[in-house]
Amino acid sequence: MNNRVIIFDTTLRDGEQAPGASLNVFEKLEIARQLEKLNVDVIEAGFPVSSPAQFEAVQRVAGEINAVIAGLARAKEIDVKSAYDSLKEAKRFRIHTFSSTSDIHILGKFGDDRYGKTLEEKRATVIKMSRDAVAYAKTFTDDVEFSAEDAGRTDIGYLADVIEAAIEAGATTVNIPDTTGYTFPWEYGAKIAELKKRVKNIEKAIISVHCHDDLGLGVANSLSGIENGARQVECTINGIGERAGNASLEEVVMALKVRKDITKYFTKINTEEIYNTSKMVSSFTGMIVQPNKAIVGENAFAHESGIHQDGMLKNRQTYEIMTPESVGVRKTKIVLGRHSGRHGLKSRLQELGYKLNEKELQTIYEKFLELADKKKEVFDEDLRVLMGDQALDSKEERFELDYIHVTIGTNSIPTAAVRIKAGEEYIQESATGDGAVDACFNAIERALEIKSNLESYNVRSVTSGRQAMGEVIVRLREGDNSFTGRGVSTDVIEASAKAYIQALNQRQNFIEMKKENESLSRSLSDLSQAV
Ligand code: KIV
Ligand code: ZN
Repeated sequence: MNNRVIIFDTTLRDGEQAPGASLNVFEKLEIARQLEKLNVDVIEAGFPVSSPAQFEAVQRVAGEINAVIAGLARAKEIDVKSAYDSLKEAKRFRIHTFSSTSDIHILGKFGDDRYGKTLEEKRATVIKMSRDAVAYAKTFTDDVEFSAEDAGRTDIGYLADVIEAAIEAGATTVNIPDTTGYTFPWEYGAKIAELKKRVKNIEKAIISVHCHDDLGLGVANSLSGIENGARQVECTINGIGERAGNASLEEVVMALKVRKDITKYFTKINTEEIYNTSKMVSSFTGMIVQPNKAIVGENAFAHESGIHQDGMLKNRQTYEIMTPESVGVRKTKIVLGRHSGRHGLKSRLQELGYKLNEKELQTIYEKFLELADKKKEVFDEDLRVLMGDQALDSKEERFELDYIHVTIGTNSIPTAAVRIKAGEEYIQESATGDGAVDACFNAIERALEIKSNLESYNVRSVTSGRQAMGEVIVRLREGDNSFTGRGVSTDVIEASAKAYIQALNQRQNFIEMKKENESLSRSLSDLSQAV
């Protein structure tokens, strides 16, 4: 049996479903380019039917990237067709369709009698829907993946029937997701082994694992799946994803690489690109990597105690099971400054994984010079932050911060004045608040006549020193929807204002999109009544 494990990266789909981690098209494209450098086999670029933005992002990634590009689709014709339409320009593409298979999901999602009155009838309907969706996808491509959602909690006999039907209809990859991160590694591994025994046509498809991390077992379960016959792992950079996230790509890949003494399975990942990819995903999603995170956390290769440092000096292997270089962590810091030219900046950004056209380079160069004026030394971290900011700027924004002035003092009331560019118009307002940030948010709300519910506010310094860049991430909540904004500056108040305006932009875009969708469905229903 082939011992190579296919890496199916779903950072742009499941990863982006992480609360607050939304990515725009520019950011998705940059990440996809970096995933290609990392040499992943399949990139799941999104869920095309779910929104016009998702559709466009999948289409753009499909149009440019050479890896196999996958698009997600429920087991419905409209979803499968939309996935095909977004993917059709790709050199190689895969339609990934899924149905829920656990009783909890079936009863919850297919409660309506039209799916059958009893659980047995509903189960039969799910098999039919899965078979039909795979067969329909097969009319567009040979490469079709089927996922049995919540397979981790699905009865093994029924799961085997669904998988067999999907393969019969043409699925070439069958995915067994532990959607709720519920299983234990030996239990999950046994499930894969049992499917290999029970499903008659299993040899016609590749078994895939997709493990969520609700109990912190996503990576362990994925490895157990591989040991029991899976040859594809679905994972995300930094382990981001729904709720507690997905199995992390870097951990699965490095576990197989570091422990090749006990496992014969391997991937074709270019591990030296891991660190750059992790940094890029973190800066674009605004999801900070915890310092003690395996492989890519800031402390992953730091040796603090005297005994450890002494051991390391004598022999690195004393406390190091892999070298930082093997995952792309550099020992020597490369520093740019105000005398660095455009060419130097461009080549450093390329080494960090960013591909820029001339216009983008010019914008980032101007920002770089501005920063280099404030900070003598510009580190890789600063450049990554500027790139993150550039990505945000590349969107056509409704509102932009033009000017901010804040007054604070020990015995005075914090006051902020802001000027915001809204299209061709400039709106100016001022307000007081409990502190400088509060005053600033109040002034923005007053200027834009929007009141929103601030759910979280996080500030951190991205690089070291007094001139460090401050990054602010805010999340607004309205009912089931959340809107995230990120701002960076050497001044944290300015960063806060930028982040808040960014989140309000997201909110407005969402409201507009909802209005457009509502008026589209109204005209479609008028049309069908007229016909
Ligand atoms: O977790 C899950 O079950 C999924 C499927 C859609 C593959 O993400
Ligand atoms: Zn998932």
